[in-house]
Amino acid sequence: MKIIAPSILSADFGNLRGAVEMINRSEAEWLHVDVMDGVFVPNISFGFPVMEPLKRYSTKPLDVHLMITHPEKYVERFCDAGAWSVGFHLEATDDPIPALEMIRKKGARTCLTINPDIDVHRLDPYLDKVDMVLLMSVFAGFGGQKFIPETMDKIRYVRAQIKQRGLETLLEVDGGVNTANAGEIFAAGADALVAGSAVFKADDPLQVIRSMKA
Ligand code: DX5
Ligand code: ZN
Repeated sequence: MKIIAPSILSADFGNLRGAVEMINRSEAEWLHVDVMDGVFVPNISFGFPVMEPLKRYSTKPLDVHLMITHPEKYVERFCDAGAWSVGFHLEATDDPIPALEMIRKKGARTCLTINPDIDVHRLDPYLDKVDMVLLMSVFAGFGGQKFIPETMDKIRYVRAQIKQRGLETLLEVDGGVNTANAGEIFAAGADALVAGSAVFKADDPLQVIRSMKA
């Protein structure tokens, strides 16, 4: 599977509707929505008021990535706001199971994610309990960072686990993805790639999305 999920974080917020409509016209499958609380990560992006226009204008499923503490307090509201999938950080909770159950009960896809400094083996017990895992290939908090090469081995590891255990869990990779490395990341076993600056700062975003899938 080769899914591209452009991150709206890198769009021009002065023309959010235009950015969403551009993605609608593109070959991207999902629209990635980065929510930051200024506590879990040292940056604040946006929250519920911005979900509303995204939901209204996007024809693509909203792939919500919560970079927040206490995700269990907010996951249901993101489902109600129109999220197709809701992901949160394993290291932001003592126990991810209650929040995962809340998301599933609302009918949305569940996703667990980890920052680059979290041992990838910590995902093992949850691989059969989520629809998707998201490996961060930069430290969550900012767009425009450089892909951390050590992520490649983690992608291969998670892909091998999924295969060995006969699971259908999707594997998404987020951070520093561009046209130069997308092919290699897919080849290592990713199903879905998030791309923010590579898409929205490009002269021809539609072509960038097309070439990432090629
Ligand atoms: C980082 C976010 C990413 C980010 C990706 O905290 O989770 O989704 O927007 O941006 P690029 O593609 O520019 O690294
Ligand atoms: Zn993200």
